[in-house]
Amino acid sequence: MTTMTISNLKCEYQDNPLGIDVLQPRLSWQMQSEHYGAYQTGYQVMVGGSETELTGDRELMWDSGKVETDQSTHVVYRGPSLAAGQRVYWKVKVWNEQGEVSESSLAWWEMGLLDGKWKADWITPDWDENTNCSQPVPLLRREFKVNSDLVAARIYATSLGLYELRLNGQCVGDAVLTPGWTSYDHRLQYQTYDVTGLVRQGENVVGALLGDGWYRGNLGYTGERNLYGTRLALLLQLHLIYANGRVEIICSDEQWRAANSPILISDIYMGETYDARQEKPGWDDAGFGTNDWHCVRQLDYPKENVVGQDGPFIRRHERLQPVQILHSPKGETILDFGQNMVGWTQIRVRGPRGTTITLRHAEVLDQQGNLYTDNLRKAKQETRYTLKGLTDVDEVYEPHFTFQGFRYVAVDGFPGELTLDNFKGIVVHSDTPPTGTFECSNPLINQLQHNIVWGQKGNFIDVPTDCPQRDERLGWTGDTQVYIRTACFNMSVPTFFTKWLRDLSVDQINGSVTHVVPDVLTRTNTGLEGAHSSGAAAWGDAAVICPWTIYLCYDDTRLLEEQYESMASWVTYIHSRTDEDFIWRKDFQFGDWLDFRGKDERLPTPMTNYELIGTAFLAYSTQLLANIARILNKPKEAEHYSDLAGKAKAAFNCEFVTPAGRVGPNTQTAYVLALHFDLLPEPLRPQAVRRLVAEIQNANYHLTTGFVGTPYLCHVLSRYGYANIAYRVLNQESYPSWLYPIKQGATTIWERWDGIKPDGTFQDAEMNSFNHYAYGAIGDWLYQVVAGIEIDPNAPGYRRILIQPQPGGGLTCAKASLDSMYGKIESKWTLENNYLQLTVTIPANTEGVIRLPGQLIDNSTEQGKDLSQEKGIREVQQKKDEVVISIGSGTYHFGAKQNLDKHNG
Ligand code: BGC
Repeated sequence: MTTMTISNLKCEYQDNPLGIDVLQPRLSWQMQSEHYGAYQTGYQVMVGGSETELTGDRELMWDSGKVETDQSTHVVYRGPSLAAGQRVYWKVKVWNEQGEVSESSLAWWEMGLLDGKWKADWITPDWDENTNCSQPVPLLRREFKVNSDLVAARIYATSLGLYELRLNGQCVGDAVLTPGWTSYDHRLQYQTYDVTGLVRQGENVVGALLGDGWYRGNLGYTGERNLYGTRLALLLQLHLIYANGRVEIICSDEQWRAANSPILISDIYMGETYDARQEKPGWDDAGFGTNDWHCVRQLDYPKENVVGQDGPFIRRHERLQPVQILHSPKGETILDFGQNMVGWTQIRVRGPRGTTITLRHAEVLDQQGNLYTDNLRKAKQETRYTLKGLTDVDEVYEPHFTFQGFRYVAVDGFPGELTLDNFKGIVVHSDTPPTGTFECSNPLINQLQHNIVWGQKGNFIDVPTDCPQRDERLGWTGDTQVYIRTACFNMSVPTFFTKWLRDLSVDQINGSVTHVVPDVLTRTNTGLEGAHSSGAAAWGDAAVICPWTIYLCYDDTRLLEEQYESMASWVTYIHSRTDEDFIWRKDFQFGDWLDFRGKDERLPTPMTNYELIGTAFLAYSTQLLANIARILNKPKEAEHYSDLAGKAKAAFNCEFVTPAGRVGPNTQTAYVLALHFDLLPEPLRPQAVRRLVAEIQNANYHLTTGFVGTPYLCHVLSRYGYANIAYRVLNQESYPSWLYPIKQGATTIWERWDGIKPDGTFQDAEMNSFNHYAYGAIGDWLYQVVAGIEIDPNAPGYRRILIQPQPGGGLTCAKASLDSMYGKIESKWTLENNYLQLTVTIPANTEGVIRLPGQLIDNSTEQGKDLSQEKGIREVQQKKDEVVISIGSGTYHFGAKQNLDKHNG
């Protein structure tokens, strides 16, 4: 009897993916075992064209044969080329260290349309429109017949604008806001749906609604529309697959008909207006008369840029009930959902025909308790619903092609008494499954973690955005770069970022990375045109930092290969901006965006100069690229970039560091960057850290950092033995600090340290989002240092897991878990009466290195026994002031008397 099971089979990170266009997909699986120190010694992947091919003894399409290796992630399919629409089944047999063998159950993947050989045409309603303002959403429909021996049906679809599909009166799929947002001119994703269960023998109808969305709705902060084009259009193929193998294809073509829908206005920023009296009941089913419908016409738009979906779908998630109804001094009736969320409000109502309900969405109330919308700038976030007047059932409405960032909703025009049950907050975000949890004994820090997660949900709507509410919601590269490591803890994000990075690459301008991806700034009159819409330090460096982070967290070397040219062209570009002395002085810079600049007399602070930040990132990105070149086996390029990185570091020291080790203007960010990026010579580091600590003490244990310095501040402190100072900054409750907004009742991360000031007034309405994940980048420190779950960069993807918590900050316990590619990792500690108990779980086929800080071997135990006796423990070493224990998979309970107290700040 084997004690091992094999499960969680993934293809390109997904469970049984439908419609992938990756020609050689990568396969991963997980091994579970009751044994300590379990690992895989070999695998055999078997792929067949049908389920029976795999269960019987017929010849397989591809059999890897037994491969002796511990590799269980990203095993590349190397069988025969697969055809469009082909579904294959697979399983894997695994050998473990005990010589046991176990086989997984079956999984599958199905290929998409592959190289875009579309038979369908782009179609658009045959009418003229004034697209300077929002137009009614069109309905498109086509009838078709199905014979009796149908075995499967698929839809492949995309649109210019957003689409929703209907088939015989039913919704197709559960995704929303498809086809998502990409750099449409270069890459427009199509989606694949299995509609076998929706089609029926005889007459059928396929239909679509088209919304303006990102394509031609309001986009960017200049109030402009039509950034990508003016015509909405549909591209669709419905494949009917019959028992005899015949495939009939129903296309978007001139047989479709078009009419207006009840959605009169639809806009991402502005909201939606829906008049239920204008519904056309039965329009999406057979037998509906279309005599008064319009024709459609073909639209001349390329199809070569249509690509398979590479990121996750956007879906509905939580359905929140409002927690209270408030009445404001202005006379507004306001729903409070108790959580700043992103999505929309669903209305359930009964009332007279023609009644219009208006919902206005906002993140906060003002000091008087009125709805506060000034910080939305030009975004209206307004939903209007006009009742058709049903008497025997409720009318239930939710919007289609828009989303709102809100906690409060002012309701106007509701017929009769409204109750909490009349509304739901539908939370919408990219389907990036949760992977991490963090919890500790301080409820304020737990709320911080909660706020970070909600900030991630609300800002991961196909694109990682700065904020989800005002007339912006753009893929700001700087925000993404600082937050990505935290993102990788909270949720499974490799495909989300793979998709975004592909857009980043295609939008690069001669290597220069645009400030936002997909780039829209070059399309608007922002005054940031040309060079000013791209090429800023710490923003453009997303091109290198993001793929590097995904590689570290998921061991994804294919992404590094794919992005290599993009990274190298960015690094080459920034070096071209330095006048060959390696100091980056030129160009528009955001600097340490929104840093605390001593406007408060208590804490006068200089700013960290642009040249210093630019040069620090120049050195850092170049060094990362050198490492990446080495990983990709490009020794010459590795040497070249490593040489350049060395020169940039030397220039940094020469220009910004005094021989006594003062860095630049002596700001927290200056020290943080110099130390985190390893720019200083070894001997100068300890005193640079001391200067940083002195700066923090001067500021009375407040941070004064902005977007650029904040993410690394605590990491630098804990790395250099000042975890106690990091904890003091983390525990700080007065402004500026992470916990100040929490004391003010925040339920998401704020854009500004003082979005709501201590006197209750607001920061500048022009830039005051209450849902901005950038400062949530402290999240990775909670996981990596407080709970202590870290990656060994030499064994990425958590193949070797470092567990090295640094208890402190008055916490009596902390725990975190992470669903890695190999399975669940857990680290949980309690600290009572100087006695540390640490429980660690390491999944099969990985190894762990535990560091017990401030410990001596003699005082350390596992399950109450001497360390050397316990199963799974491979090696125990006493290092200076810590015990280092190497383990194999399993769950361990360590106990140790806290001897060296220095981390316990
Ligand atoms: C965004 C930021 C962004 C910044 C660039 C702002 O409007 O909201 O988060 O990074 O512009 O400086």
